Amino acid sequence: MIIKTVNLETVCGVTSRLPENDKPEIAFAGKSNVGKSSLINALMNRKAYARTSTQPGKTQTINFYNINDALYYVDLPGYGYAKVSQTEKEKWGRMIENYLRRSKQLRCVFLLVDIRHEPSANDRQMYEWIVHNGYKPVIIATKLDKIKRSQEAKQLKLVRTGLEIGNDVTVIPFSAETKQGREEIWALIEQLTEC
Ligand code: GTP
Ligand code: MG
Repeated sequence: MIIKTVNLETVCGVTSRLPENDKPEIAFAGKSNVGKSSLINALMNRKAYARTSTQPGKTQTINFYNINDALYYVDLPGYGYAKVSQTEKEKWGRMIENYLRRSKQLRCVFLLVDIRHEPSANDRQMYEWIVHNGYKPVIIATKLDKIKRSQEAKQLKLVRTGLEIGNDVTVIPFSAETKQGREEIWALIEQLTEC
């Protein structure tokens, strides 16, 4: 995908109304710190346009990035961050749920999981939410550069068993450091959005 322009067009807080976009949307979900904003930067060919942090809980809003005036990447707040209050967690949960239910332009949800760890109960719940809302999740196994090549197949298997998914679900290993996997994700986005 050739990135010509990127623009953080809408930032939605808990009380904001969702934008009525007329272009296809691709959303990125996953636990805090898994690398959603880093993946979005890589897919925008930008180093730090979407704000990232070593501290989990960086993205607390739903951010809509307009790409080439043709589609949107939607950065969702991360779940499972232990340090925020229960009320805060519920608010983010409702925000994500509301978005999944209401968006008219959403074409696909990419669910990110860390390739180093077995998916959590929260990851499984997010997977179920996506399916429940009528979407077929694509799994991105992030931080590929943090494991040895020889561990990749074993870790990908762990991701599949942890999420209880079969071979019909696409799992793409990705590294924001080396950009490995980016071409495959771009190709999928082009196919899904016809952009
Ligand atoms: P929240 O906004 O808190 O939900 O987090 P996020 O999912 O947007 O994660 P973010 O992109 O901010 O990344 C969290 C940390 O992981 C940052 O320090 C990133 O530099 C690091 N990180 C993300 N992806 C990768 C990767 O592929 N490889 C390595 N080595 N580090 C990564
Ligand atoms: Mg983020």
